[in-house]
Amino acid sequence: MTKLNWGMIGGGEGSQIGPAHRLGAQADGHFTFAAGALDIDADKGRAYAQSLGVAADRAYGNWQEMLDGEKGREDRIDLVTVATPNSTHYEITKAFLEAGFNVLCEKPMTMTVEEGEDIVRTAEATGRICAVNYCYSAYPMVRHMRHMVASGELGAIRCVVANFSHGHHADAGDADNPRVRWRYDPAMAGVSGQMADCGIHALNLATFITGDEVTTLSADFASTIPSRVLEDDAMVNFRLSKGTIGRLWTSTIAIGRMHGLDIQVFGEKGGVRWHSEQPGQVWYTRLNGRTEIIEKGEGGISEMAAHVSRVPIAHPEGFPLAVANIYVDLAAAIRARRDGTPLDPAADHFPKAEAGLRSMASVYATVASAKADGAWVDARPPMYR
Ligand code: NAI
Repeated sequence: MTKLNWGMIGGGEGSQIGPAHRLGAQADGHFTFAAGALDIDADKGRAYAQSLGVAADRAYGNWQEMLDGEKGREDRIDLVTVATPNSTHYEITKAFLEAGFNVLCEKPMTMTVEEGEDIVRTAEATGRICAVNYCYSAYPMVRHMRHMVASGELGAIRCVVANFSHGHHADAGDADNPRVRWRYDPAMAGVSGQMADCGIHALNLATFITGDEVTTLSADFASTIPSRVLEDDAMVNFRLSKGTIGRLWTSTIAIGRMHGLDIQVFGEKGGVRWHSEQPGQVWYTRLNGRTEIIEKGEGGISEMAAHVSRVPIAHPEGFPLAVANIYVDLAAAIRARRDGTPLDPAADHFPKAEAGLRSMASVYATVASAKADGAWVDARPPMYR
């Protein structure tokens, strides 16, 4: 099986998410790192790409140069990852889709719902794959929870409770630190702070595991540090289309919580719980039963989880390998489209542009609701109403 060619925009030296993509794309041998426009500083981007093994003629100074350079090549990249700051995602993703490239875009996929709808339509019209890096959905035990819900093991799902709350912006003395301040400035971050940054990961997990969609929601936003315009804490009540009740808390001032992403799903026959800081375990309690721990790698684990597991029981597979799982699925999807063969259903759980759009619609709904003192609002994108 020949390797696919992969390129990256953003994710330059010192960036937060760049290393996870480089590790992830190359972890399983599906992709060669063939091209990049890695940095807002053209010279730094070219030099860094070459230091990572990209050929000089494919180490580009900016994404437009990369688009022009790759378009005409026989060995053009099969997939481009967009890992630049949020406000650039739409323009770059759309341009690459229109030129016939498959795209993996970082979250949030766009800055507005309209842009999100445009990306979904562009991916449909061009027949290209557009994925969004909701990488927590690719942890083996998260996939196992999805399997448990889909197979009916938990019965009808009554309630889902998701948290993505950490304490890393809790220091009021740090409020003017430029690395922190932009996240609460609408000119830089958009309509929402913590909800758009982290809350959407937790909400995406709630929908991924339940296999359902958010329909309505009610939100309470707070900026607990007065100089912050955008929220640093949000509580969201939501409803899924099959009637499941949802609760979401997302915060940056929760001192003592570290990464802080966890989720519980309560069905009529049992409940499950997963914490990103102990990613290899799911806590499972049957109705009227004792709590047991399901371990990644144990015998009898679902095919959905086994498909994205590599190392034995009790060896954690953390964040970069979750990102790698998105690339494993994408490699299968790209090859299936290229070769006109059916995609293995086990590889079809990667997050698509539709998930990016639904997230954006939810973010806008939380903002509207919070402004209206928590009024319940429609959270569906207009094109899915
Ligand atoms: P960062 O600020 O640490 O790094 C951004 C990188 O992009 C830098 O190397 C910068 O030079 C480069 N860059 C900026 N504009 C560019 C342009 N026009 N062309 C080429 N390169 C450009 O940002 P970070 O934290 O890595 O975030 C990037 C994106 O990844 C954001 O959208 C963020 O929301 C997302 N992210 C996603 C995570 C996840 O769990 N899926 C986790 C962290 C970030």
